[in-house]
Amino acid sequence: MKKILVTGGSGYIGSHTVVELQNAGYKVIVVDNLSNSSIDAIAGIERITGIKPHFENLDCLDYVGMDHLFSKYEGIDAIIHFAASKAVGESVEKPVLYYRNNVNGLMNILDLMPIHGVKRILFSSSCTVYGQPDALPVDETAPTKPATSPYGNTKQVCEEIIRDVINSGCCCMQSIILRYFNPIGAHPSAEIGELPHGVPTNLVPYITQTAIGLRDKLSVYGDDYNTPDGSCIRDYINVVDLAKAHVFAVNRMLNGTQDQPLEYFNIGTGKGLSVFELIHAFEIATGIKLPYEVVARRKGDIEKVWANPERANKILGWKAEVSIEETLMSSWKWEQKINENRKA
Ligand code: NAD
Ligand code: WQD
Repeated sequence: MKKILVTGGSGYIGSHTVVELQNAGYKVIVVDNLSNSSIDAIAGIERITGIKPHFENLDCLDYVGMDHLFSKYEGIDAIIHFAASKAVGESVEKPVLYYRNNVNGLMNILDLMPIHGVKRILFSSSCTVYGQPDALPVDETAPTKPATSPYGNTKQVCEEIIRDVINSGCCCMQSIILRYFNPIGAHPSAEIGELPHGVPTNLVPYITQTAIGLRDKLSVYGDDYNTPDGSCIRDYINVVDLAKAHVFAVNRMLNGTQDQPLEYFNIGTGKGLSVFELIHAFEIATGIKLPYEVVARRKGDIEKVWANPERANKILGWKAEVSIEETLMSSWKWEQKINENRKA
């Protein structure tokens, strides 16, 4: 049974990916310091798959601890590196925390891989590296743009570090970098999902918290953009679809079909939705009228971005499948679930 180390594996995308890895027959070891997730996610994974992943409460910044981990689980076939801090606004206030956590964490892993004979790493990146693309849909040949936040820059820097390590010829390392667009939704079982801390900054958790009554109304950040209805456009990707993309990528790394030692894939639906269209889709899916108010633009927001996912479709063999309505229903079901726990 092939062994996959998943850092950040009790987090939002990581936990959904662990489920799909287990469904695909992989043995999974999760490393997470629980700085932005709960150990309950591990139990949730087990309730879904019947398999409890190995869990190590460890910080990727703990070099000695990570070295011992690699020794404990000798023969790791691939690493999926999710562990990072990801709040754009917080990164502006605390840039050093973000560079230390996101960049040093990756470098510890890249240091330890050749020492322990680990050759493959799958890295979590973001469409944020494209900024406002010059052409849409955006494909992997699009140039990266100067980051608009320290968080976004950590993603660009990490991509460049991986590129340089591979170009150094270090231990025949292979890597696939997945650039996610906007992940949303939750596992249909409502056993795992996103756990936003405090007031959500992302659109969909704010919508579901408004719908459940935690927030009075949604603020729509601007309706004066150069888009059909004036609101920003994004490519919202179902988190289970996104998780499955990681399985396709790991399969590619392990089955020897990877053409280049470093490959990039945009993981999106290829369809852009505006904020108003997403609100409408939520209302149709749930039957809930969502109160909202248009306010000023949010600083740093780009106007419109959606993926050209053809490379991932053709080369990985992966395609987004879940509809936006079904995805939003899963978000709503998850919100209702965690709201029960809030009341308990
Ligand atoms: P998340 O915060 O839910 O998951 C990250 C996990 O990593 C958490 O469980 C956290 O406790 C853990 N972690 C953080 N720093 C750690 C450290 N030093 N050592 C060990 N564990 C650590 O976030 P997510 O949404 O699941 O994102 C996962 C990855 O995907 C991140 O790298 C993020 O930058 C990237 N990404 C996320 C999005 C998105 O919109 N959610 C979009 C593009 C890319
Ligand atoms: C989506 C749209 C907002 C909230 C961010 C990060 C990105 C990645 C994904 C980590 C925008 C609008 C939002 C609200 C609103 N994260 N909006 N009212 O900004 O595209 O991407 O999350 O990698 O790096 O930048 O996602 O969900 O915050 O916003 O009108 O209360 O919804 O203006 O147009 P975003 P988002």
